[in-house]
Amino acid sequence: MTKIALIGCGKQAPKHIAGLRAAGAGDILLYDLDVSRAAALAAKENLAWSADLDALFGDAAVDIVDIATPTASHAPLIQRAIAAGKHFFCEKPLCASLDEAWSIKSAAEARGVFGMVGYIYRFAPVFASGFKLTPDAGAPLGQPVTAHFRIGGRGDHEVWKHNRATAGGAANEMLVHMLDLAIWYFGEVRAVQVLANDLLRPVRMIGGKEVKVDAADFVLVRLEMAHCSSVFLQADLVTPAFNQYVEIQYERGSFMGSIQPEVASYVFATDAGGEFPIGRTRLDNGDGNLFTFQMAALLEHVRRGEPPPCNLIDDSVKLMEAMSMLQQQGVGR
Ligand SMILES: NC(=O)c1ccc[n+]([C@@H]2O[C@H](COP(=O)([O-])OP(=O)(O)OC[C@H]3O[C@@H](n4cnc5c(N)ncnc54)[C@H](O)[C@@H]3O)[C@@H](O)[C@H]2O)c1
Repeated sequence: MTKIALIGCGKQAPKHIAGLRAAGAGDILLYDLDVSRAAALAAKENLAWSADLDALFGDAAVDIVDIATPTASHAPLIQRAIAAGKHFFCEKPLCASLDEAWSIKSAAEARGVFGMVGYIYRFAPVFASGFKLTPDAGAPLGQPVTAHFRIGGRGDHEVWKHNRATAGGAANEMLVHMLDLAIWYFGEVRAVQVLANDLLRPVRMIGGKEVKVDAADFVLVRLEMAHCSSVFLQADLVTPAFNQYVEIQYERGSFMGSIQPEVASYVFATDAGGEFPIGRTRLDNGDGNLFTFQMAALLEHVRRGEPPPCNLIDDSVKLMEAMSMLQQQGVGR
């Protein structure tokens, strides 16, 4: 049985616990800087908790450290996990800067541990279907012409998600998910153009209080990528009804995919290609329970002593290289 130490008992933690349990994890030990949060979640989930981070990292029975804390704390916690010889899972993004990503990569390689990052959209069946149209999968409907990746949510959950000093904002919270999908589909980011990096709602109600925030909550960028020269990513924290989709035009067909069951996902082909006949093929959006798939991939591979199939540190280094290009133009800073 695999023992997991889960650091950070906020919004994501119950989803991790459900996914880990569904994937057959053994013990789960909880920790949070705010001990009351760890104690409350432990009581609710009937799990053990600890107030001693040193003991947690020193626990020889812990196989994986799962980090679900605010982004600015990822790199130091990951470095502690690596130093303790633990494989780690970390919520996206891996870290806040390219320098941190390189340090994590070299430390993990030196210590011989795996790291997986929570780019959960890669586990959505609809995006696995979409991948079958990409150049890496043989481009059955021709080359990509243009692509639009969109994600928007309301934010307003915690103040740290809206301030620059704590690595909040639409880029770190939302855009990175779409950037990861875009890199999976179209390869390296060669050039970036920032079309909007705006703070549309500088005053928000968070936790019943009106707060002033300073991180951009609306980002629109154009990317020139290895396999598509016209890729648009739009991410925001100003959409009350969460919305997410990917729309790609190929020479001989369209892909429309969303993680949301209520959005119709399909491939439309003007000529048959690959497994797609002429006309519209509806795609399965999945049941949305991606945390189980994600955690199952993590546990299965750690048990076998092999790196997980995707979302590795190297993937995040590539993503952080693109983020660094965007950061140089003010996005995510
Ligand atoms: N994969 C996704 O779809 C998705 C969705 C939302 C958030 N996230 C990511 O998950 C991470 C956590 O987000 P959240 O919504 O759960 O945040 P949250 O603010 O709800 O919870 C974070 C928890 O971490 C604790 N914490 C803060 N600093 C800590 C430290 N140094 N050590 C231990 N505990 C600490 C806080 O007390 C809090 O309980 C972020 O990186 C966020 O970007 C991912």
